[in-house]
Amino acid sequence: MRAVLFDRYGDPDVLTEAELPAPEPGPGRISVDVTHAGVNFAEVMFRRGQIPVGLPHVPGLEVTGTVRAVGEGVTGLRPGQRVAALTLDGGGYAEVVLARADLTVVLEGPRAIADPALAAAFPCNVPVALGLLESAARLLPGESVLVLAAAGGVGTAAAQLARRAGASLVLGAVSTATKAEYAAGFGYDEVVRYEALAELVADRTGGRGVDVVLDSVGGEQRAAAAGLLAPLGRQLIFGDAAQQDAPVQPDHLWFGSRALVGYNIGDLAHRAPALVRGHLERAAELVAAGDVRVDFTEFALADAAEAHRILTDRSSTGKLVLRVNG
Ligand SMILES: NC(=O)c1ccc[n+]([C@@H]2O[C@H](COP(=O)([O-])OP(=O)(O)OC[C@H]3O[C@@H](n4cnc5c(N)ncnc54)[C@H](OP(=O)(O)O)[C@@H]3O)[C@@H](O)[C@H]2O)c1
Repeated sequence: MRAVLFDRYGDPDVLTEAELPAPEPGPGRISVDVTHAGVNFAEVMFRRGQIPVGLPHVPGLEVTGTVRAVGEGVTGLRPGQRVAALTLDGGGYAEVVLARADLTVVLEGPRAIADPALAAAFPCNVPVALGLLESAARLLPGESVLVLAAAGGVGTAAAQLARRAGASLVLGAVSTATKAEYAAGFGYDEVVRYEALAELVADRTGGRGVDVVLDSVGGEQRAAAAGLLAPLGRQLIFGDAAQQDAPVQPDHLWFGSRALVGYNIGDLAHRAPALVRGHLERAAELVAAGDVRVDFTEFALADAAEAHRILTDRSSTGKLVLRVNG
């Protein structure tokens, strides 16, 4: 089968095409003939060695396609069914990938998503946005939310879901005016560049601050956002795009009556799989019903490096999807 992999860490050019044997599913797993694979910022972190992975590594944390074969003990899935799956061990940038049966949804009934590219564009970012807001932040109706990297895959889903959950105010921050304009179409009350964020939060909350910050950026934006939290506000830490992790001083949390909460879908898929499954099922239903809009840009599998490049140089908006065999 055709795949894109990297056998050393580095810039997007380390992604190369290769011919590999198609994997066979073991117990509890299925194999999927992939039509499309989503591209996630986490795959950039793997590729540059920010999160070490075994080499060579075929990236790809989410796919859509048809079931090719089912492993021992798998029920409710059969060859030929159209599915979307989280492939959190990677492997999605390939014509065939293994997926856990419990992290696979059949695209039928209330989860019927006709567009295959769209079906590859939601399995990671929409469940993550649900998990962040509902399970980690425990967002209450009437609370306010601030999303950093507001124009990206997770950010554009999170704004819509925060709004649906009854948030009274949904603010976003991005690096450029073009991204601010783009993100405004996803349910935000207002999106500004990071430089203007402190003033925006002060104006829109009467100086009180925001209840929840979704922070996948880290670095100086993490430090700045900490100062924008309302009393007992929660800063959700779920990424480090800036590659500038900093030590946490717990005393600062209680001095300032605020919380830092971590969220990692990979960890939860092992330790709380039913929670992730629930979010994946609901995400499929929200997308199928058109209740959450996922805007995506398609690339050929062979152009995976270009997709990584625009994620890394911060010029991407929305979600990026690879066309593998569609
Ligand atoms: N913990 C989890 O379970 C989990 C799951 C999924 C995603 N995530 C994280 O959530 C974030 C969003 O994921 P995504 O796939 O939807 O990506 P994305 O938001 O489409 O792209 C990443 C965004 O991060 C921002 N960014 C800030 N500093 C950056 C830097 N130094 N270099 C590159 N980008 C920078 C950029 O937006 P601006 O230019 O507007 O700042 C960029 O568009 C990522 O950080 C990802 O690692 C975490």
